[in-house]
Amino acid sequence: MLEAREVQAQRAGIQVLWDVSLKVNEAEIVALVGPNGAGKSTILQVVSGLIRPTGGRVLFQGRSLSAVRASRIVARGLCHVPEGRGLFPQMTVRENLEMGCYLGPARTRRDESFRMVYEYFPRLGQRAAQRAGTLSGGEQQMLAIGRGIMSRPKLLILDEPSWGLAPLLARAIFDVIRRINAAGVAILLVEQNVHMALELAHRAYVLENGRIAGHGAGAELLADDHIKEAYLGQAPASPPAGSER
Ligand SMILES: Nc1ncnc2c1ncn2[C@@H]1O[C@H](COP(=O)(O)OP(=O)(O)OP(=O)(O)O)[C@@H](O)[C@H]1O
Ligand SMILES: [Mg+2]
Repeated sequence: MLEAREVQAQRAGIQVLWDVSLKVNEAEIVALVGPNGAGKSTILQVVSGLIRPTGGRVLFQGRSLSAVRASRIVARGLCHVPEGRGLFPQMTVRENLEMGCYLGPARTRRDESFRMVYEYFPRLGQRAAQRAGTLSGGEQQMLAIGRGIMSRPKLLILDEPSWGLAPLLARAIFDVIRRINAAGVAILLVEQNVHMALELAHRAYVLENGRIAGHGAGAELLADDHIKEAYLGQAPASPPAGSER
């Protein structure tokens, strides 16, 4: 459904991505993990049309996105929930959600989408009239994801959905991501919590210094020595005691 082919990209005139290729299939959860500054947010911005690549291309449902405005990309079914959430703090929860269904066919499904979001996040329903800026960090993250759902995406891109959240709340958000996916929405997510991300994802990519340094099934990467050492704070597995004579 989404394919990035040998993407090159710059930030402020400096190249930060080299030959990044990745794929997200229909109804799949794909995680992207890697250290700070690796270029994870940058590749998400390239695939959602917010930054133009200096080389390579991005195909969404078989069509190139290079000449398409970001707002048109949303109408085609790709929605990006950015790092830092990008909410309108002076507007209410309900008004923020409404902003999510402005574009394209999502508009006609507004009422159904509201019901869906309040079902995933009952807390947002209780706080519909509260200003977004006064919500807790976890509630703001729910609202950002909820606003994404209002656009009725086929692919939902999430940049650090558990950032700053206590473990229990992070887990709750991940459970909802799983349910959104079970309803048929493909997910591409960047996540600092590598363990949780690899448990959730069907497949994952490792991005280091602007290049893809590995990929595989989530479970496969969880068992990988480099991943264990670099991202999970575990020493590589040693042979069981007594296995040598
Ligand atoms: N707006 C910007 N202007 C200039 N350089 C930028 C900008 N945004 C990012 N960069 C640089 O691009 C590189 C990749 O940044 P990016 O935000 O994609 O990394 P990341 O993997 O998402 O990191 P983090 O885990 O800290 O969010 C970094 O070296 C960063 O300093
Ligand atoms: Mg980032």
